[in-house]
Amino acid sequence: MVIKFVVLVLLGGLLALLQRKQVEAKSPHILFIVADDLGWNDVGFHNPAMKTPNIDKLAREGLILNQTYLQPLCSPSRHALMTGYYPYHAGLQHLVILPWQPVCSPLKMKFLPQRLKDIGYATHMVGKWHLGFCSWNCTPTYRGFDSFFGYYNAQGDHYSHTWYNYLDYRDNEKPVKNLNGTYSTFTFVSRAQDIIKKHNSSQPLFLYMAFQNVHDPIQVPKQYEDMYPNIKTQGRRQFSGMVSALDEAIGNITDQLRESGMYDDTLIVFTSDNGGWPKYYGNNYPLRGGKFTVYEGGTRVVSFVHGAGLQKTGESYESIMHAVDWSDTLVEAAGGKPDLMGDGVSQWSSIANNFPGPRTELVYNFDSDLAPEEGHAAIRVGDYKLIDGYPSLYPDWYKPDQLYTFKPEPSIPEMQAHAGRYQLFNLKDDPTEHNDLSKSRPDIVTEMSERLRLLTQNAVPPNYPLVPDPKSNPSKFDDVWSPGWC
Ligand SMILES: *[C@@H]1O[C@H](CO)[C@@H](O)[C@H](O)[C@H]1NC(C)=O
Ligand SMILES: *[C@@H]1O[C@H](CO)[C@@H](O)[C@H](O)[C@H]1NC(C)=O
Ligand SMILES: *[C@@H]1O[C@H](CO)[C@@H](O)[C@H](O)[C@H]1NC(C)=O
Ligand SMILES: *[C@@H]1O[C@H](CO)[C@@H](O)[C@H](O)[C@H]1NC(C)=O
Repeated sequence: MVIKFVVLVLLGGLLALLQRKQVEAKSPHILFIVADDLGWNDVGFHNPAMKTPNIDKLAREGLILNQTYLQPLCSPSRHALMTGYYPYHAGLQHLVILPWQPVCSPLKMKFLPQRLKDIGYATHMVGKWHLGFCSWNCTPTYRGFDSFFGYYNAQGDHYSHTWYNYLDYRDNEKPVKNLNGTYSTFTFVSRAQDIIKKHNSSQPLFLYMAFQNVHDPIQVPKQYEDMYPNIKTQGRRQFSGMVSALDEAIGNITDQLRESGMYDDTLIVFTSDNGGWPKYYGNNYPLRGGKFTVYEGGTRVVSFVHGAGLQKTGESYESIMHAVDWSDTLVEAAGGKPDLMGDGVSQWSSIANNFPGPRTELVYNFDSDLAPEEGHAAIRVGDYKLIDGYPSLYPDWYKPDQLYTFKPEPSIPEMQAHAGRYQLFNLKDDPTEHNDLSKSRPDIVTEMSERLRLLTQNAVPPNYPLVPDPKSNPSKFDDVWSPGWC
């Protein structure tokens, strides 16, 4: 007995040593690419009209994540990616953080770059933040990033880097005033190339590229628009050009990784932050709906992984993945431990081997406290999806290169008409949500609405102040959107 015990202990110790060595040797560089408002039908590997050779090649050589969900909107999605918590556990489930709201992703929640720093990573961020900036403590370099180059808000002019006429562009904490006129994507690529060039590759690198493309305003240098002479509508043509500029940017960054000898040791993750925005020419066909909605077009996004650590490539991962899973998944890919407190689950070993994943259900959103008549909530359990209440502005199936007229705002009667109403879909048989089963399967409706109630019983109310905080006014900060007022 004693001998067996000693042998076991010795063996265990040896194994642990070997494993640690393996993990240390293997911590990959991580390039985490988030596109803004890129739709399901906006990449070449879903739609041959789109010119995205770099994205397509990475997707085909990697593993396509075919059932990956984010939130229907930007701040909630980015919060989920960074923290591993659903927005309804952080008060971020209602629309997005506005520049004059004293709100940010809760400081008590640990961000992904902080977790990666703890296990030895260098951490850099380029692009869009949109997780609040009223206090310095809310901003990227105080939440785990060694450096930040980008903007704090939802969107801005791609050339002047302003929103509502005030500058929103920073290099770490300093406003950037000398890039007026340069298309943001070019500035982001140069910064990324710089980071990679200067990086000592013996330390693992985490580079978070949160691109501005393809968010409105629809702006792109003419040479990219000209790549699409066959697209009839100007908006869709320019939008498609923005997609190709994004694709070229990704090509340039991966070229730099190759030149710096880091490419083979890099795990690349690509995801959009939500579905395409039909009003601004984003396209999710054949999926239903778009950005803002809990339909699949708003939440099921283009996503893939490529490179270091993947054992099965050229395939498609058909298990459900949600934004909240990325933090644990990447920490585990990096050799760290999952966080048992959050809403996410590490999918790393399933993704690495293309085995069935651990997630069986997800909450699309839960936002019914602020305005009950909007009652926008949805859950997926296995193949079934239940929508509770008003699914939002874009309820239809939109084809690319066609003009649609959209209402500017949802109408109150329309929202009220949806209060307490359910829609039920079987996503396996009907991924495009044509066939509402709520009348024929009231048993499933009851079961799933109870499950939704249980999962959201500890939801916190939306932190969404309706009155702008006058302290936010950029004219007090040299005409720059700035922290320091909450
Ligand atoms: C992804 O899912 C769709 C159904 O939603 C299916 O048609 C398709 O074959 C799957 N795989 C890939 C690689 O797109
Ligand atoms: C950027 O340049 C344009 C054109 O020269 C000018 O009108 C605008 O005021 C500038 N914006 C900022 C924020 O400097
Ligand atoms: C990179 O870091 C390693 C380990 O700290 C060090 O030995 C090496 O000299 C560094 N290389 C360069 C080019 O600075
Ligand atoms: C990519 O690199 C090429 C070659 O240096 C350059 O001409 C092009 O503008 C770059 N594109 C982007 C989006 O950075």
